[in-house]
Amino acid sequence: MKRVFSKLAFPRYEKPAIRTEIPGPRSRELLKEMDMLQETRTINFFMDTAKSQGTYAVDADGNVILDVFGHIASLPLGYNHPALAEAASKPEWLPFLLQRHALGVQPPVEWPKELRETLMRVAPKGLSEVLTTCGCGSSANENAFKAAFIWKRARERHGSEPTTKELMSCMQNEAPGSPQKSILSFERSFHGRTMGCLSATRSKPIHKVDIPAFPWPVCPFPHLSYPLHEHERENREEEDRCLTRVEDLIRAHPIPVAGIIVEPILAEGGDHAATPYFYQQLRRIATSNGIAFIVDEVQTGCGGTGKFWAHEYWQLDTPPDMVTFAKKMQVSGFFLKSEFRPAQAYRIYNTWMGDPLRMLQLHVIANVIEKENLLTRVSDTGNFVKMELERISRETPFLVANVRGSGTFLAFDMPNAATRDQLLFEMRQKGVQMGGCGEVTIRLRPPLIFKQQDANILIETLELVLKNLKAHSSQKESLPIH
Ligand SMILES: Cc1ncc(COP(=O)(O)O)c(C=O)c1O
Repeated sequence: MKRVFSKLAFPRYEKPAIRTEIPGPRSRELLKEMDMLQETRTINFFMDTAKSQGTYAVDADGNVILDVFGHIASLPLGYNHPALAEAASKPEWLPFLLQRHALGVQPPVEWPKELRETLMRVAPKGLSEVLTTCGCGSSANENAFKAAFIWKRARERHGSEPTTKELMSCMQNEAPGSPQKSILSFERSFHGRTMGCLSATRSKPIHKVDIPAFPWPVCPFPHLSYPLHEHERENREEEDRCLTRVEDLIRAHPIPVAGIIVEPILAEGGDHAATPYFYQQLRRIATSNGIAFIVDEVQTGCGGTGKFWAHEYWQLDTPPDMVTFAKKMQVSGFFLKSEFRPAQAYRIYNTWMGDPLRMLQLHVIANVIEKENLLTRVSDTGNFVKMELERISRETPFLVANVRGSGTFLAFDMPNAATRDQLLFEMRQKGVQMGGCGEVTIRLRPPLIFKQQDANILIETLELVLKNLKAHSSQKESLPIH
């Protein structure tokens, strides 16, 4: 292992270098080859991963691209970070590369220590346990929903074991064993693509269509006006309108609510957030109705907003009941209060229950975040980018509006989907990979190592591309508020 990694001399890049259009000829060849076997229409380009470094992705055609999308917000330290490369060459990693444990049966001796020193070290305040799932965000949310249902039924049963009638009826998918219970979610939210998660997801209809869904309640999520400080009164009224709807649904929905799930920033749905007041009230409503309050930090967790967990901005008196994670964390799962651990074993379970290799990776990531003070860097660089985007928005209000977000977890709206998609394409041709979300939104999700020089390149390239886009877009319809 040592030799393999020491042979990989990772190059350093200071700026984008473009040789071909993107995707270039080699990426297009690979697209053709892969398309014989799988869907390829979502792919932007193929990567030469070994040549990529830091914030720069190198593609199959040798183009060097500043990556501020970071594999859909899942790349914490950029490419081939030296601390990870060094750790991965150590003999301790090898056994976990060579086999994967069924952690619920025969975990390695290192596992309790890793849980404590890696995951619990970054645990949200007030959550004393953690459960690891299959690796994706959907598996985290799906299992958090189960924990909420199990907790709710255990309370209704006053802690006694499931009855024979319940155990028999659940085999027929019937009550009382399969009870009528729901998870309340919000319009424009995204919680994943497994069956339960899809029923809570309320954005991107193409992911939901044709799939049977639980008839769970959905509430409007506040449509805030920007800039926030100029619209405090109307934003508060809008938040109160949505909160009233939450309370009405809890009272009147035919399927009793066992949990509320909310993202700190509705990311896939277009980067929409409410003010801390809204989330504080949600927490209060959940508590007073005996409902689990689940915060989905799959996309916002692990530092991108400038706090390790975005819900830290809310300053809740009572912590969430569960916080789900995946993406930048490399391992997925959820933190929970001990009362959400089911009384019986096997109730939240799968074959692997996590991955020690990814845990070792997270251990290094957490060390680097701490040692290099990356959360401060994210806040500082993010503030600069946000100020620059606001300036661009003032100068070209017909192209860039509603600049929002915290840390480097930033977004802005464009006049329509076509212009947004064109901007993404043109930026890529100039060597900057950004992301889209919602209907008309551009989102930034750089790795936590994103630095001032990267920020300068991002803003310069954006201004250059917007100058040329102006001609296409100035005649089009005016910007929507969202
Ligand atoms: C907030 C949120 N929750 C859940 C998910 C689902 O995660 P995954 O795609 O890893 O299953 C996503 C994915 O984008 C997400 O953004």
